Amino acid sequence: MFDALTAKAPDAIMHLMAMCKADTNPDKIDLGVGVYKTEDGATPIMRAVKKAEQLWWQEEQSKTYVSTVGNADFRRTMLELILGKDLLEKYDPRLASSQAAGGSGALRLGAELIYSASPEASVWVSTPTWANHIPLISSAGLKIKTYPYYNRETLGVDFDDMLSAIKEGAKPGDIVLLHGCCHNPTGADLSHAEWDQLSEFLTEHKLVPFVDLAYFGLGRGMDDDTYGLRKLVQTQDELVLAASCSKNFALYRERVGLIAVLTKDVDSAINAQSQFGAIQRKIISMPPDHGAALVARILDDPQLREEWTAELDEMRERMRSLRAQLSDALNVQGGEVMSAAVKNQNGMFSTLPLSKAQAVALREKHSIYLTDSGRVNIAGTNTTNIPRFAEALLSVI
Ligand SMILES: Cc1ncc(COP(=O)(O)O)c(C=O)c1O
Repeated sequence: MFDALTAKAPDAIMHLMAMCKADTNPDKIDLGVGVYKTEDGATPIMRAVKKAEQLWWQEEQSKTYVSTVGNADFRRTMLELILGKDLLEKYDPRLASSQAAGGSGALRLGAELIYSASPEASVWVSTPTWANHIPLISSAGLKIKTYPYYNRETLGVDFDDMLSAIKEGAKPGDIVLLHGCCHNPTGADLSHAEWDQLSEFLTEHKLVPFVDLAYFGLGRGMDDDTYGLRKLVQTQDELVLAASCSKNFALYRERVGLIAVLTKDVDSAINAQSQFGAIQRKIISMPPDHGAALVARILDDPQLREEWTAELDEMRERMRSLRAQLSDALNVQGGEVMSAAVKNQNGMFSTLPLSKAQAVALREKHSIYLTDSGRVNIAGTNTTNIPRFAEALLSVI
């Protein structure tokens, strides 16, 4: 049977990681995989997570199954973190949610729920978007359509083109996938005014937003990073939210995520809640508990929550400072557009206007590893390697 299988090409990011690992140059720079790194290139366990883990080791009484929709405290505390107390209180009766295996699991559960409710709906995704969005969502059976988003000349968002393309091609009930903040791979986000306009546009055209919030807290702060989502919760009849704790709690391998939907009425929320349980049951039965229990433990404990917030703030400010340093280093003739963009963009990524040949040249001549599309992980730079990175970049363009 298995002799019928053909080999799959390696995932581009995994392949890049392998090439970087094999490179013996001590000055190599790894700007590939999307994980936060310290000045020394480490991806540590956050201090509040380590403390919560110690407490949880003493408190946890059983490893028996929790539930198909996961840990109830996790779902409550996460929704409260993302929406804020007041909005959660107001909209709670119209919300259904489930813990998921990471942000990826959340996207998949969301796609499965949409397919169960409306198999003919198309999901509109930005060009470009996170490489795994299309496989994750389309494997639930949904059709994918794309809208223009990033302008590779201005290195900003083509908001008018985005709306025109959706207006022209979408039918009522279609889904629009939006990056809540820190767009991956570009770092180019919608402004508050654009979120406001988008919310009116979605209402007018009867479209349903699906917000992917994988980096909240790492862009410009919790309130700013959730501005778009909170706006949509207050203005839309229906909405889908997928959130990840991989980056902001650095719980990558623990697989911690949340899927939630806002429905038109209370009965629909009750039905959606039961659907989440049934969908998860047929895929992985129950989500893993450890990481979710830690998140709930941190968010419910004022001191741990304060420590986690402080460390998240440090991580975000460090990335903003790296952006400022890289921007300064690029602010020479020929680098002005990149310099301004890198400074204004948000989160872990920026997409630089590089051709594939230029990305390969950076790899082969300078041991600098970034994707062929020009995406760089800002957290992979540091105060020491920024001058070398900027010089190499300017030399290949
Ligand atoms: C935009 C976006 N969404 C979702 C995810 C999913 O993250 P995870 O499944 O690791 O929680 C990622 C991870 O890189 C991402 O960049």
